[in-house]
Amino acid sequence: MTEKKNKDAFSSNFGMIAAAIGSAIGLGNLWRFPYLVGQNGGAAFILVYLIITLLLCTPILLSEMVIGRRGGGSPRGAYVKVTGRKGWGVAGILGMLTCFMIMSFYVVVGGWTIRYLVMSIAPGFHRGAQIDSAAVFSGFVGSNVSPIVYSLIFILLTIGIINLGVQKGIEKTSKLMMPLLFVLIVLIGIRSVTLPGAGAGLDYLFKPDFSQFNFDSLLAALGQSFFSLSLGACMMVTYGAYTPKSSNLTKNAAIITVSDTFFALLAGCAIMPAVFAFGINPSEGAGLVFVTLPQIFTQMPLGGLCAILFFVTLFLAAISSAVSLFEVMTSTIMDMGKARRKTASAITAAILLFTGSICSLSQGALRGITIGGKNIFDQFDYVSSNILMTLGGLLAVICVGWVIGKKTFTDEITAGGTIRVPRTLASVLFFIIKYVAPIVIVTTAISSIF
Ligand code: PHE
Repeated sequence: MTEKKNKDAFSSNFGMIAAAIGSAIGLGNLWRFPYLVGQNGGAAFILVYLIITLLLCTPILLSEMVIGRRGGGSPRGAYVKVTGRKGWGVAGILGMLTCFMIMSFYVVVGGWTIRYLVMSIAPGFHRGAQIDSAAVFSGFVGSNVSPIVYSLIFILLTIGIINLGVQKGIEKTSKLMMPLLFVLIVLIGIRSVTLPGAGAGLDYLFKPDFSQFNFDSLLAALGQSFFSLSLGACMMVTYGAYTPKSSNLTKNAAIITVSDTFFALLAGCAIMPAVFAFGINPSEGAGLVFVTLPQIFTQMPLGGLCAILFFVTLFLAAISSAVSLFEVMTSTIMDMGKARRKTASAITAAILLFTGSICSLSQGALRGITIGGKNIFDQFDYVSSNILMTLGGLLAVICVGWVIGKKTFTDEITAGGTIRVPRTLASVLFFIIKYVAPIVIVTTAISSIF
């Protein structure tokens, strides 16, 4: 038992931070954030996003960490232990379900990333290459076999990291990948902002335009902040359980939030100036990353190299997030089924191969099947990001604010009184967790329905 505990823990605080940043930085930063900023009034959106992220989402992140480290084990076990009530285990199971739904479409996009990385090395996107990138993309994602094979490769790579365990797998790879991600995005950014005409892209991102900012923008900022910080999916409950007892959770939460936000801004500066320099209209999500950018790479000096760097970045960002999603599911199966790590990860992989294939096919053979006007892929994205993550975040703050209470919360963030956290800061954080966060989440949820 003790041996198992030691193996399933981060060896250092830095390891924990790297893994959590790895989870946070993902497809959300690279393909959703830059577009949302441009669409919702540039700096106006960034300002609101920063306020929401700092004042609301960081305390929520901290709540998940407190539950995880205090409770230990899988998210389900942690919730039961900190509350002393079996019923709260549902919150952990919900987290697993959320991760499972996110992962089902994440592995598909992860597979696309590998395919595009191969293409860029091939070298399909070198300067002067004649490609119709929209046709290449729709031809690939709409086919029935190849995207599934690439998803399988992505799943196998993720499982490879998971099977090495918390320290040798998740922690070690995160410590390597995270600094590399920052270096890569800065390199791409330098190339992008030095293109003639890049200024228009920076204007699009940073010029405040409050006329474009409305209530929907507020909802978008909140949703993006949740998704980007991996909130409400029990990710931080799981990683919290692996965190050293001496770690300063408040400081860690701040570092994770700042790094994730900084990376999102860097991603914006790497992508939008290039898009505008070539006079192309920015599009959303998959279109921007897999259609617009390849088109730009083929026109740009050093485009072939930039294509490789970009798809390596996308791949690393995707796999480090996938690892955390996988770990939430694997640790829950290990705990509930008393299974070994390898068995639990194999079960996770098998389920994901099935649901991932369905998501993939919904771009092709199963295109005709829609639920509520959306294909299966979009529906998985919508339900997990807009409903389940919000619900998960709400349960985390209710658990800390109303069930475990201020005394235990303070005890945990001060590590039993050994870490100095200013009293006012602890009180403000707890106030946000207990009152502000639940009210904001519930009101936005209700108003987004109407
Ligand atoms: N934060 C990740 C991203 O930005 C997505 C994610 C959500 C990862 C929930 C884990 C849990 O892409």
